[in-house]
Amino acid sequence: MRINAEDFQYVADVVRTEAAIVLEAGKEYLVETRLGPVAHQLGLGSIGLLVTELRQRRNPALLTRVIDAMTTNETSFFRDVQPFEHLKRKVFPELIERRRNEKRISIWCAAASSGQEPYSMAMLLRENFPELENWRVEFLATDISTQVLAKAREGLYSQLEVNRGLPAPLLVKYFHKQGHEWRIDARLRSAIEWREFNLAAPTYPSMGPFDLIMLRNVMIYFDVPMKRSILSNMRRALRPDGYLFLGTAETTINVDESFASDTLHTACYRLKSA
Ligand SMILES: C[S@@+](CC[C@H](N)C(=O)[O-])C[C@H]1O[C@@H](n2cnc3c(N)ncnc32)[C@H](O)[C@@H]1O
Repeated sequence: MRINAEDFQYVADVVRTEAAIVLEAGKEYLVETRLGPVAHQLGLGSIGLLVTELRQRRNPALLTRVIDAMTTNETSFFRDVQPFEHLKRKVFPELIERRRNEKRISIWCAAASSGQEPYSMAMLLRENFPELENWRVEFLATDISTQVLAKAREGLYSQLEVNRGLPAPLLVKYFHKQGHEWRIDARLRSAIEWREFNLAAPTYPSMGPFDLIMLRNVMIYFDVPMKRSILSNMRRALRPDGYLFLGTAETTINVDESFASDTLHTACYRLKSA
């Protein structure tokens, strides 16, 4: 299904206003690939008809469907490996040492997609830091997309998904077969609180403070003013000695100078004031 220039501009404006995602000219193919199936499922013969429905704003569920469809949810277990090594070797040992008296750690996965990232962290904690079983570990995972959050809550993954990054011993230990899919352990599912949250919100009321924030592979979709606004909200949501992880292709440099790199090997940042 094709989209005309005017409808493309309308969709791009809506997606930017609602989710901060920037769709530049030339991304018409992306909108066509993502919204074609939505139009089809709704029994609408073209993307033009879908956009007409959207313009009338009679159906908030349609807006949610469109935003959901326009998010890119690419993820995998232990994605990029190195950040998880850094968590294991430096971040969690340091946090455990510093929080030994309060026995409490607070984590936020701020673009959790279908759950592979928070579940990777939950497995890493269980495997390497058994003493945390007796601590209060608060683990929040959020995303703007209701569809990926529903999948994350279910914790149900295809063979292809578990083949991507999940070591076989962890598959055997923490998953069980359900039909052709794999379901993650109920204890891991219930250890995480899943919530819908739009990072483009002007302020983040009653969030945190967190010891660790994962904000990986999402800022690439935003423009610089939005990245600045999000990092400034993150600064407030982070404990002064906390850690912020970005995606491998993302940085705070030239965006928010209050952060400094924690290591040369992966995109982990700390507040300079720490
Ligand atoms: C490419 S995935 C990254 C998932 C995971 N962090 C990783 O690195 O594997 C990006 C996620 O950001 C979410 N996202 C996009 N715009 C968002 C927004 N404005 N607020 C919250 N989440 C958003 C998408 O729904 C998607 O699940």
